[in-house]
Amino acid sequence: MNNINILGIESSCDETAAAVIRNGREVLSNIISSQIAIHTEYGGVVPEIASRKHLEKIDDVVSLALKEADCTFDDIDAIAVTYGPGLVGALLVGVAEAKALSYALNKPLIGVHHIEGHISANYIENKDLEPPFACLIVSGGHTHLVMVEDYGKYEIVGRSRDDAAGEAFDKVARAVGLGYPGGPKVDNAARTGDPHAIEFPRGVVAGNPYDFSFSGIKSAVLNHINKAKMTGAEINIPDLCASFQEAVTDSLVSRAIGLCRERGIKKLAIAGGVASNSHIRSRLESECAENGIRFYRPSPVLCTDNAAMIGCAGYYEYLRGRRDGLELNACPNLKLGER
Ligand code: KG4
Ligand code: ZN
Repeated sequence: MNNINILGIESSCDETAAAVIRNGREVLSNIISSQIAIHTEYGGVVPEIASRKHLEKIDDVVSLALKEADCTFDDIDAIAVTYGPGLVGALLVGVAEAKALSYALNKPLIGVHHIEGHISANYIENKDLEPPFACLIVSGGHTHLVMVEDYGKYEIVGRSRDDAAGEAFDKVARAVGLGYPGGPKVDNAARTGDPHAIEFPRGVVAGNPYDFSFSGIKSAVLNHINKAKMTGAEINIPDLCASFQEAVTDSLVSRAIGLCRERGIKKLAIAGGVASNSHIRSRLESECAENGIRFYRPSPVLCTDNAAMIGCAGYYEYLRGRRDGLELNACPNLKLGER
């Protein structure tokens, strides 16, 4: 079989990224230019700044991805790009770049769903992983529990009714003055804290037992902080972070393991930026082991936004015959499984 090289491009939020992926699972290069340092000044992502920075970086990031992969454009078989969901102005930069390359080089263009990219990150380091499997996607914008029935075929079993898990981490971090992005900072502060120091709710929702809710947990943390401020009580940041993280972890782990047990699923993967959380990873690891479930988790650099995952998802879309025309547009609210 001839090698198939996909150039992946990602610009949906605050990372400008390009990667070359061979035959779906081999990373020849994975270049990520992060804007975190810029947005930190504002305490969160500023969409206009994100778009402008993507525009400044995208050409260099693509060139670097080719150089590091020891490739030229001639070696590329197709260009895969995130076209949603995400910030519209940010997405447009990647989509325009991919369309221009596709037109100029006369190579196929493939639009990729950002969440499908996150899920596909699991294929890169686990050459034996094939659908079907369950996947818990926890990122800054999304919390989904899905059954990956086949490549590109998903059943959404549960989703967050309000905030995404990452959003809750970011808001709690901001409230205690840890800064942006909050996830890694809360993760770190929680290491020396007592996860049972403060009892926060577990986000139970009526109706679908697999749906999540994080706004109640977040509000309980904010109430705790406000109450402490009013009474002059000292806030123990490690204890607060560990207790908050424990509540989020319980909520995620109980549903993911519950789904596997209910349906007799023996493979569970996690994906998205929050999937790099050390506590969530270790709890899932031990509960999967107890329940005879094989646990898959991408390395942290493949959990947060990157283009290797887009190249990987793009490869399977390429095999399935997906080809987009130059009318491909950014879709900020694209649903998983939608085209
Ligand atoms: O997947 P991602 O890079 O971007 C989106 O598609 O949203 O996820 C970013 C989110 C942010 O909310 C960030 O705080 C969170 O992932 N995150 C973490 C950790 N590392 C990143 N949350 C908890 N623990 C971490 N170690
Ligand atoms: Zn993401």
